[in-house]
Amino acid sequence: MANYILEMHNITKTFPGVKALDNVNFKVEEGEIHFLVGENGAGKSTLMKVLSGIYPTGDYTGQIKLKGEVVDFRKISDSENAGLAIINQELALVPEMTVFENIYLAHEIKKRNIINWNQTIHMADKQLKRVKLNVNPGNKVKDLNIGQQQLVEIAKALSKNVQILILDEPTAALNENDSENLLNLLVELKKEGVTCIMISHKLKEVTAIADSVTVLRDGLTISTLRKNEINEIKIIKDMVGRSIDNIFPERKPQVEDEIVLETKNLNAYNFAVSKQVVKNASIKLKKGEVVGLAGLMGAGRSELALSIFGNPKNYDMDGDVFVHGKKVHFNHPSQALKAGIAYVSEDRKNEGLILKQDVKQNISLTNLKLLAKNGVIDKNKEIVYAEKYRKEINIKTPSIEQTVENLSGGNQQKVSISKGLFANPDILILDEPTRGIDVGAKYEIYTLINQLIDHGMSIIMISSELPELLAMSDRLYVVAEGKITGELSKADATQENVMKLATV
Ligand SMILES: Nc1ncnc2c1ncn2[C@@H]1O[C@H](COP(=O)(O)OP(=O)(O)OP(=O)(O)O)[C@@H](O)[C@H]1O
Ligand SMILES: [Mg+2]
Repeated sequence: MANYILEMHNITKTFPGVKALDNVNFKVEEGEIHFLVGENGAGKSTLMKVLSGIYPTGDYTGQIKLKGEVVDFRKISDSENAGLAIINQELALVPEMTVFENIYLAHEIKKRNIINWNQTIHMADKQLKRVKLNVNPGNKVKDLNIGQQQLVEIAKALSKNVQILILDEPTAALNENDSENLLNLLVELKKEGVTCIMISHKLKEVTAIADSVTVLRDGLTISTLRKNEINEIKIIKDMVGRSIDNIFPERKPQVEDEIVLETKNLNAYNFAVSKQVVKNASIKLKKGEVVGLAGLMGAGRSELALSIFGNPKNYDMDGDVFVHGKKVHFNHPSQALKAGIAYVSEDRKNEGLILKQDVKQNISLTNLKLLAKNGVIDKNKEIVYAEKYRKEINIKTPSIEQTVENLSGGNQQKVSISKGLFANPDILILDEPTRGIDVGAKYEIYTLINQLIDHGMSIIMISSELPELLAMSDRLYVVAEGKITGELSKADATQENVMKLATV
């Protein structure tokens, strides 16, 4: 008999207009690494929020058992006291506080009701060593990169003697190196007896370290696979309900000679971080071309894109940008939009979307002129366009009037892409367009890219997923420390060649 540390029975949770979980059953064995996978909007995050008390007892129906005992969590601290810790994709650290303050925030080490800072620092240091994070505990969290912050969150969980660690897409924003470190850490923690539940769209990491995988689809439990049954093809089939043989749809090369965008010796200095983020960058984009920007996290790819797009908040720039052969100087993204350039940000939460507004309002924003009649938005037209994108790229939402904040992560990303498309650009910059997107939807986005190219658009694509970048790009530039370190033709664009140039 399996030894289940956690059992969730017949969990049903509804939101207005959506049955997010429909009688879900989910069982996890003690000490295993159990992945939860499924398409965007399948209900993964919701299930974990039910488990951790973010949605309290009474907000859902069904039963949760820990080590055979029924539990009723009314708030997160209840589940924490029972040995659970959830690390959401939106990290919950306080950026202005130090690493050690964050680790012991809300469960301070006290002696006679006074915080014992020496002991706090000492203990924090111990937890940091456990997660192999080599930073000074006195550093502020805002000075750490995303991968390091993720590790601080785990250190915080460990400091509370966590027994079940829940991670919601922890590697979505990590580079390959940091992702690998994180996976290794989970394997280490398993040896110490920590049970881990992890949500991920990266099936490679699922097959690498999972002991079990549970697949959700449309709020239903489809299958639970044990170690010897786990393989990518089976997982994809259960996720999307059919098999996908070709992950990257074919595109006939369409590149024309006409250069639609060019930068010459572009430099950008970012005052906010006191650093030159773009150094002497000269790139070209031809009509009908997908040009990839490869490089490690922090190499300056997004900074280069932003410099082109005219988002010079904190930037001091020099060098030239030409659009259709004409020298331009954008001071504001609206000017770039007018000139036919749209940018879909990697940071959909902060730069891409207005979370409190609904789907249609978000999409409308990039092309109000198209919708306005005598300065007033034509509501009917707005609906028509929003519905068009909802259908075309399959945005899963009960209606286009849904607040974007309430959509699942991957569907927010789709709204962000729709915004870029609605601007009707002829040059589109896609920054990590498939981050947090499920395999089926990735295929839809690749297909969409191919269609846009067919219609004469030109695309700059930034992606940390090298296989995707290699498959989709006609040509690649590699960026390292703000510089273009090389240009690769499709034929020369191999993983190895890119990595050589990315690490110079
Ligand atoms: N607060 C909310 N209000 C209304 N609907 C919600 C809310 N949270 C989630 N939903 C809906 O519930 C469904 C499940 O969402 P959930 O976030 O659990 O998906 P997910 O599997 O985590 O997807 P992703 O891979 O995109 O993160 C979706 O249809 C989503 O739109
Ligand atoms: Mg989610």
